[in-house]
Amino acid sequence: MGKALDGVRILDFTHVQSGPTCTQLLAWLGADVIKVERAGEGDITRGQLRDIPGVDSLYFTMLNHNKRSITVDAKHPKGKQVLEALVKHCDVLVENFAPGALDRMGLTWEHIQSLNPRMIVASVKGFGPGPYEDCKVYENVAQCAGGSASTTGFDDGPPMVTGAQIGDSGTGLHLALGIVAALYQRKTTGRGQRVLAAMQDGVLNLCRVKLRDQQRLARTGVMEEYPQYPNTPFGDAVPRAGNASGGGQPGWILKCKGWETDPNAYIYFITQAPVWKDICEVIGRPEWLTDPCYATPKARLPHLMEIFGQIEEWTKTKDKFEAMDLLNKRDIPCGPILSMKEIAEEPSLRATGTVVEVDHPTRGKYLSVGNPIKMSESPSDVKRSPLLGEHTDEVLAELGYTQDQVAALRADKAI
Ligand code: COA
Repeated sequence: MGKALDGVRILDFTHVQSGPTCTQLLAWLGADVIKVERAGEGDITRGQLRDIPGVDSLYFTMLNHNKRSITVDAKHPKGKQVLEALVKHCDVLVENFAPGALDRMGLTWEHIQSLNPRMIVASVKGFGPGPYEDCKVYENVAQCAGGSASTTGFDDGPPMVTGAQIGDSGTGLHLALGIVAALYQRKTTGRGQRVLAAMQDGVLNLCRVKLRDQQRLARTGVMEEYPQYPNTPFGDAVPRAGNASGGGQPGWILKCKGWETDPNAYIYFITQAPVWKDICEVIGRPEWLTDPCYATPKARLPHLMEIFGQIEEWTKTKDKFEAMDLLNKRDIPCGPILSMKEIAEEPSLRATGTVVEVDHPTRGKYLSVGNPIKMSESPSDVKRSPLLGEHTDEVLAELGYTQDQVAALRADKAI
């Protein structure tokens, strides 16, 4: 069976995390992704956070599956010629260099268009046009500038970044969608276009509900589902909401049996209104059903933290999986706090290919996250990441270079 993006060729000029996330997704969807790297060092992440000396790091291997690697010195005149041949050969160029770096290599939009008017040029940058457009940006800068950090954490603590890489991987995801849309539009226009995903914009898109809350706060001065209500006054900006649910259904993280020694013995508990009766029954507080202070969702809002405290007295008597079983039987929405160790060992995630074991020639077996997007007619197989320059000869042959020409390029240090 073919893949959704069969026949699409990607000139992958990405590095670190955001761009590679995007091109890895496109590769899983079937695109031929040719990753261009500098000879000798390659993507800086090959050598970062190494757990085995001299071997490509997990950082690199887990972000570069299903790609081919070719080494080209983009600043060498003959390397530039190889790049130009790749521009003519490919459908999409994806890059996440610092602002201006692609232009400095001579690959301006105008030049690319003159070589291949059908080419789509897709970029991740830290910021869109504006005061910060020239800045270099990493994950946590984007989380801070995109509104995530100011709204994450507890009210009495500092702003917090999250473990989910919403700036890098989140923006890579946005970019991949833009590329697929541009490929679709090219079918009718016959022309490429530029696609930009700025990390600040991507994070803000994922923090959309907090901008919703900013406007609610400005209008009413209060947000009753926030843990600050009713005891702590609100300021003029959305405060950090701890573990409160972002939606209209109040939720909180509660301790479970073993919490004193296990940092992940917790459960997320949602007091969804339709199952309030079940919640009262399961935790042994049937009187709440008729008590006017607890009987309706609106009446409960000023008492939420007290209610969660009472529910916690019950969850502390069960381990998180026992609590899950009991609550799920009554359709009470909840979720165990799973550690990465538990996720790595979870058989159902292995069965769906969401967690996969991959074999690598120098690293051996390692775990990775497979494609989270499952398509019935275009399943993804996870193939190991390429060694540095592993496909240089193969790709150059496809571009029409003879073996002697490749040897000459190598002698010139252009590849
Ligand atoms: N041959 C020759 N030169 C190459 C090359 C190749 N194959 N690949 C990269 N280079 C050069 C670039 O041309 C650039 O040179 P220049 O500064 O002289 O123009 C140089 O390598 C460094 O690139 P740069 O992107 O500036 O890397 P950096 O390590 O200094 O910065 C980031 C890293 C991530 C901060 C920066 O790339 C960035 O802000 N990217 C956009 C936002 C982003 O994606 N951030 C998240 C990353 S996960």
